[in-house]
Amino acid sequence: MTRPWWRGAAFYEIYVRSFADSNDDGIGDLPGITSKLEYVKRLGVNAIWLTPFYPSPQKDHGYDVADYYDVNPEYGTLVDFDELLASAHERGLKVLVDLVPNHTSDQHLWFQAALSTRDDPHRGFYHFADGKPDGSPPNNWRSRFGGPAWTRDESSGQWYLHLFAPEQPDLNWWNPEVLAEFERIVRFWLDRGADGYRIDVASALFKRKDLADVPMVKDPLSGMLRPDPAFLITDQPQVHQVYRRWRQILNEYQPDRVLVGEIFEPQRQSRYILPDQLNMAFALIPAGWDAILWRRSIEIDMIALHGPGVAPSWTLSNHDVVRHVTRLGGGSIGRERARAALLLLLGLPGQVFLYQGEELGLEEVNLDPESRQDPLFIHTEGKHAGRDGCRVPLPWKKGEPNAGFSTKPPWLPMPPGWDRCAVSAEDASASSMLSFYRRALAARRRLSPWLPPVIWWQPSPQGVLVYRRDRLTVACNFLGYPVRVPVAGRLVIASAPLATLDDGWLTLPESSAAWLDAVWAE
Ligand code: NOJ
Repeated sequence: MTRPWWRGAAFYEIYVRSFADSNDDGIGDLPGITSKLEYVKRLGVNAIWLTPFYPSPQKDHGYDVADYYDVNPEYGTLVDFDELLASAHERGLKVLVDLVPNHTSDQHLWFQAALSTRDDPHRGFYHFADGKPDGSPPNNWRSRFGGPAWTRDESSGQWYLHLFAPEQPDLNWWNPEVLAEFERIVRFWLDRGADGYRIDVASALFKRKDLADVPMVKDPLSGMLRPDPAFLITDQPQVHQVYRRWRQILNEYQPDRVLVGEIFEPQRQSRYILPDQLNMAFALIPAGWDAILWRRSIEIDMIALHGPGVAPSWTLSNHDVVRHVTRLGGGSIGRERARAALLLLLGLPGQVFLYQGEELGLEEVNLDPESRQDPLFIHTEGKHAGRDGCRVPLPWKKGEPNAGFSTKPPWLPMPPGWDRCAVSAEDASASSMLSFYRRALAARRRLSPWLPPVIWWQPSPQGVLVYRRDRLTVACNFLGYPVRVPVAGRLVIASAPLATLDDGWLTLPESSAAWLDAVWAE
């Protein structure tokens, strides 16, 4: 049996609105992406994941879908999508489409019909319920963007459920019609040639049927109220039936089309990552720069997902989290750690998901409140900074207005000096983050066919992690000073120029990592 293409693959997330702008309106689009596929290919990834590009009022930048069968006119047309796909396939790049099944936009025709009268058949597509006798919402659930998870529909007096923004009403997956609609949608993009889907909030589709109040706790990270994890309001067992059905549908096309679930909690993933359901879910490394936290995070993800052919999909950043150069300390130290972190992750078994701009070493942007557009910022009245800071458009050309993204002001403003990390500048420098990403991904491609899906942690000084994967040794120094570790093999790649190998001893400068190969010959 040959290995399916996605096992061990490197994926590149394209945030469509911010990647490349072909018509100079300040907003990224599909033809812009097509024009940069050579750049993506040269980076050395196997596939791209496109964030939602459907018609949408953009209340959550595409995660509020108004029509699942078309392209947002700001981003292009279905013909542009077909061209993008053909052009990616010509280069051997696979393409994943983002599927948003948990909720629609409030502008979707289903929801508009549902609002029209109480007995419209589409009413049952959503969760409408009467409030409590005291006039409060049907239960105490909270929106993940802040405030109650219910909004009152003034004309009927009932409330509708939305786990995200009020403009994102949740679909009622207990209704078989919803299931049938999504089977058509799943087929639509597969028919056009998509290689699979990333599924938004994949464990949330079914809500507990009694819509009962649940105890709420404060999330230690965000400070926001969320249901006590012991009282699940989502993640109901019926969701697995949906994924079994979708898996069957994908298999009718080709068994190697993939389903990637947006599920982060490692303990949940093993119920979804099964031969008859999803292929992958994300293993996001949330830790700061600390050897023990990293090792724990890696171990938890690897233990949660074990079994033949199953391995985590490592992720340092995506469009919902603070860019990791900033998380790791920012500035030059953040960038050094980010290089080391990449080597640490790329050596592990499993897939890797990169987020556009991390290959340039981009940092989180501290935008003015007036420029922020994220519903998380808006609905928490600024208490949560929101996610715009990691979504600022990519800098393509040094010295050009708006770093060559567009001559019109981009939809999110760029900070001064944004073009220092422009592709044109980094392309020209062998020591840039971009060149390092290309070298690291190339080394991974060269070695990965020979590597088993397991790692062995090696004894190492405190603050240093060393693991072996058969012939490959990966060593990472988290400390603020150089260390020497005994290793076997020859140096393949290091994150810092001053890493040296001398008679079986590797000297690793502060915050750096290296790969050694016991069999290596150039
Ligand atoms: C997860 C997406 O990644 C995020 O951007 C979005 O706001 C929520 N799901 C709701 O769709």
